Parts: sequence; C-alpha cells; structure tokens
Amino acid sequence: MKLTSRSVSLAAMVSTVLASALGATLIVTGTASAATTLGAAAAQTGRYFGAAIAAGKLGDSTYTGIVNREFNMITAENEMKWDATERGRNQFDYTGGDRILNQALNNGKRVRGHALLWHQQQPGWAQGLSGSDLRSAAINHVTQVATHYKGKIYAWDVVNEAFADGNGGGRRDSNLQRTGNDWIEAAFRAARAADPNAKLCYNDYNTDGVNAKSTGIYNMVRDFKSRGVPIDCVGFQSHLTNGPPGDYQTNLQRFAALGVDVQITELDIAGSSQANGYATVTKACLAVSRCTGITVWGVRDSDSWRTGENPLLFDSNGNKKAAYTSVLNALNAGGTTVPGGDPGTTTTTTTTTTTTTTPPDPGSGDCTASVSLNAWNGGFVATVKVTAGSSGLNGWKVTTSLPSGTTVTGSWSTSGSGTTGTVVWSNVDYNRAVGAGQSTEFGFQGTGGSDGLSPTCAAA
Ligand code: XIL
Repeated sequence: MKLTSRSVSLAAMVSTVLASALGATLIVTGTASAATTLGAAAAQTGRYFGAAIAAGKLGDSTYTGIVNREFNMITAENEMKWDATERGRNQFDYTGGDRILNQALNNGKRVRGHALLWHQQQPGWAQGLSGSDLRSAAINHVTQVATHYKGKIYAWDVVNEAFADGNGGGRRDSNLQRTGNDWIEAAFRAARAADPNAKLCYNDYNTDGVNAKSTGIYNMVRDFKSRGVPIDCVGFQSHLTNGPPGDYQTNLQRFAALGVDVQITELDIAGSSQANGYATVTKACLAVSRCTGITVWGVRDSDSWRTGENPLLFDSNGNKKAAYTSVLNALNAGGTTVPGGDPGTTTTTTTTTTTTTTPPDPGSGDCTASVSLNAWNGGFVATVKVTAGSSGLNGWKVTTSLPSGTTVTGSWSTSGSGTTGTVVWSNVDYNRAVGAGQSTEFGFQGTGGSDGLSPTCAAA
C-alpha cells in the first residue's frame, strides 16, 4: 500500500516536471500528427499516394529509396501494357510486370494495373488484326493478364483512352473501336470474371473539367451502372500545365455521384504554378469522399515522360521540390473520409460525417426527388436523385430550401438558380431526358448546415 502510493506520487511528480518543461510545445489536437511521407499522409485520410515506376530503374538506389519511402501504391509505367506482356500472340511474358509487382508487394505497397486495352502500345501482331479476330485476341489478353495477376491488383485500368478529343464526347477511332461499340463492356466483363476482387477502372486524359469528352465518359459510366456492366472506378490522368481547371473537383464529384470511385492516375504538372497546381489537385481529391487516391506519373523530373518539362515532385537529384511540400501539407491538412476506409491502412478522420436520406417527396406526378447527405461540422455534400413518374421527363426542376447561414459552394450535373435560401436546380443537356420510372442524379456541396433541404421535383 505504501509502495503503491509512493509510486503514484513519483509518477505524478515526473509528469508534472515534464509538463512544465514541455508545456508550451505540447499541443493535443485529437487528430493524427503530421506525417512525413506522402504515403503516410495520404493514409491518414484513408487514401493512397502512388507513383508510376520503371523496372529498369530499380537498380538506381536514389530512385528506389524514394519509391520505397514515399509511396504506398505502385503503377508499372510500361511493363503491364499489351506490347510488354504479349509480344507474340498467346505468348505471355510477365518478367517486367512481375518485377514491378514484387517490388511493390515485398515493400508493403499495393498495385494499380495499367493497362489491359489501349489503342497505343499494342504489339505489332495485334495492330495487324481486325474484326472478330482482334476482338477475341483482345478479350483473351484481358482474361490472361488479369488471371495472371489475380488477387494482387488493387485496381486495373481495363480500358485506357477510348474517347476522342474534340469529337463532341464520342469514341476515338481505333482498331478496337472498329470491332464494335460494345468492346469496352466486353473487356470489363472479362476482367471481372478473371479477377473478381480487383476494382475495374476506365482511364483517360483531357477529362479534368466538365467538358464534352468527360461528359461522353460520364454518360458511358452511367449507362454501364444502369445495365450492370461491372465498372468500379474512373481514372483521371491529369497531365496538366500550371494546374487543373476550376471545375476539377466538381467533375470528380459528378462521377462519384454515379456510384464509382475516382482516382487521379497519372498526375504531372508543368509550368510556373506547379506547386499551387499540385495543392489544388490534392485538395480536390481530399474533398471528394470517393476519390481514393493519387498517383504521380514518375518519381524525379529526369524520370518523366514529359522530357524537359520538370513536372514531378522530386528534382533530377532526388531532392524534394516545392511541389512536394505543397502536396504533403495539403495531405496533412486532411479531408473527408473514404467510405469503408482504405484496406490495409489506418483511417483517421478530422471531420464528423453523418449520412441521412430523406424519403422521396410526394411529387407533382411528374417526378420525385430524394436527397442523400454527407454532412460534417460546417459543411456537406448533397446527392439528389430525380426519379421520373409514369410519363417520363424531358426537363426537370428540383427546389430545395437551404437553412439560413448555408451557402452553396459548388454543384455538378445541374445548373442552380442561386447559392442561398430557396434554390431551384435545373437539368443540364445530358440529363434532361429521364425515362418513365428511371432516375438521374445531381449534387451540390456547401458550407453551413444541411437540415431540412426538403427537395421537391417538377417537370420543366
Ligand atoms: C507513357 C510512358 O510514360 C512512356 O514511358 C511511354 O513511352 C509512353 O507511355 N497516358 C498513359 C500512359 O496512359 O500509359 C502513358 O505512359 C502516358 C500517357
């Protein structure tokens, strides 16, 4: 008894001394402390931070040192592409791909597979095929490669760059496209059958804002979701100069609202505003709960495919650039949580998230609207589902009433009449028509409270 009380008083004395010595520097915030690597900082928000790497550089200790220290997701820059894995028809060679995979898995990192089908970097024999012969060779390729890597890949870029630039949101012409418009869904179905646990992504570039190309992809993803074609994620390559367009986050969010994850898959940023641009991209991903991670396309500037543009986070000597610090700081500032967390990492949230769904409004007979809320102290993301009545819609309006003090800061797949009070949300071109009994979604985000939005829907 005597001994115990002496121990307690000694312990109390020691902690009092420590507290007075360190008092001014002890800050207890209740949130995780700042991480010192990109991967660890991203993991604290439930996300990953990755890099594309090259097997031929793994003998460079500066390079491999950075890779092992900073990143927790790895992409093969070239080694898992069609020309690398199936040099002759049905002659598969996984030497390079396996080196990347093992480098990642042996160091506790996950792998994004890139890319099963693409119009570029096809082996010569495939470039010479067409029609049903090419289709079956392509599907065989998907099946074989996804089977080889089964259970080891976090997400596959099943199809890469299938949409055209400057073609009103249409597909790119290619030998694959000429096998029939359904080649993309056939590839996704084959990939799911081969590796049911990998997330299956569509990946493309020049899709960073709401534009004709990204809207073409958006419509494809919406169609796939409505018909049960297996798609889990959309990759935004984000090869940028200075920074992303102003509606970058809005664009990510509208895809997320379709029920897919979004990922930044090949980030590199040239130009004098590089550091700011990196921070903007990072913050946008952190603000979208379904944005599960960011990958940069290379390690040092000297490793970049954009020769001479120095678009990466480390200089050619392997030193951290200002852009690195701006990403690390943005990650350490935190973000909204990823639903379900990130397998294999610790999820720490700095926000309180509650999700509520209001019942559909009785409607005018034309349509009904329901809202699903992701709200935290000081802000929210609202996803609104518009469901057509028995005659279908060719234009719609949804009215919401925002509590006082609440301001809308962004929206997607809609145009809104204001940012405070009663706001009327109208369809945009691509979601004007909604078939009888069918639904479409739009969303908005804001600061302030989100109680009692009470959406009502009417045909317009
Ligand atoms: C690039 C690689 O970085 C280069 O090494 C290679 O010579 C060409 O391909 N979009 C993609 C990536 O999806 O696969 C490309 O990678 C960059 C553009």
